[in-house]
Amino acid sequence: MSSAISSCSPSLLGQDCGLTSRSQKSLPRSRTPKFLKCVASPPAETTVYTTKVQRNANMEKLRAGYLFPEIARRRAAHISKYPDAQVITLGIGDTTEPIPEVITSPMAMELRAAIASTYYGPLGIDEADIFVSDGAKCDISRLLLLFGASVKIAVQDPSYPAYVDSSVIMGQTGLFQMDIEKYGNIEYMRCSPENGFFPNLSTVSRADIIFFCSPNNPTGSAASRDQLTKLVQFARDNGSIIIYDSAYAMYISDDSPKTIFEIPGAKEAMKDVVSFYQENTNILVDTFTSLGFNVYGGKNAPYVWVHFPGRSSWDVFAEILEKTHLVTTPGSGFGPGGEGFIRVSAFGHRENVLEASRRLKQLFK
Ligand SMILES: Cc1ncc(COP(=O)(O)O)c(C=O)c1O
Repeated sequence: MSSAISSCSPSLLGQDCGLTSRSQKSLPRSRTPKFLKCVASPPAETTVYTTKVQRNANMEKLRAGYLFPEIARRRAAHISKYPDAQVITLGIGDTTEPIPEVITSPMAMELRAAIASTYYGPLGIDEADIFVSDGAKCDISRLLLLFGASVKIAVQDPSYPAYVDSSVIMGQTGLFQMDIEKYGNIEYMRCSPENGFFPNLSTVSRADIIFFCSPNNPTGSAASRDQLTKLVQFARDNGSIIIYDSAYAMYISDDSPKTIFEIPGAKEAMKDVVSFYQENTNILVDTFTSLGFNVYGGKNAPYVWVHFPGRSSWDVFAEILEKTHLVTTPGSGFGPGGEGFIRVSAFGHRENVLEASRRLKQLFK
């Protein structure tokens, strides 16, 4: 990796970048350039100061066109092509409802105690064991930092991309193999309609860390008690660690196991938010079902996983965007097992979801 791209390059110090006095102070005076331009990558000869610090070479393994930036790019291109279009986003999720006050109020200790007692209490875990963090995405990376570069991870395929990308950045993987659309040294556990979105563990090789997300993003399926018992046994047999991501546990509506996020008052508030999005989900499920598609998920999670057999996910994404101005998420972005699917998120305003339903019915009728 080139070390010529300096962390103190002139392009980052120019006045027109809005970063002036503090950064300039750190440079030797004689080297402070007078006129600077903002450019993404300055030519090497204009670099006034180059550190000797290598960048993390694993970053280069990340495949170009990472899912969500690519969707944002296509969305922006679509808007400039159709400036008057009413674009509706059913892609990354537009969490439009306010966070219930019980969560935003300064009651972290009570929250920790409530989490410990309501869900983990019987398991002998107390509030000191609970960490209320700045988000699961950050935690995924932090957890992998704990294990270092020499461990191997397993993921559901398809799965929420942060597990794979964090592992790549940590240096736990090989390169991305274009032909099979997988990184080396990751165990991909295929989850499809054929296996009820639960991996066939008899074909899964040992991994140190098993990321398991239930209810699942993107497929929307929740593992049953029996399935999770098998997963735990599998991990125990192999001496593996399961990192269980239950970000959507509040959406579980049947007796699938969940991690309950519950404090007095929070439960009811969360229920209102959940039922709002559940209604959105039902509208989307009904829409695609009425159009004759096979639709998965949507019952225990706010994601609807729609099958377009024989078609490329990106083609379906592009067709829907072009013809209806709706942004969805191509399933293949979550792993090769997502090819042929799109994920439709129920996080959005009700009127947008209804309008999206109307447009989809017009397109696929
Ligand atoms: C399964 C799953 N885990 C984790 C996250 C990230 O959560 P946070 O916003 O807390 O970083 C998301 C967000 O989309 C998710 O879908």
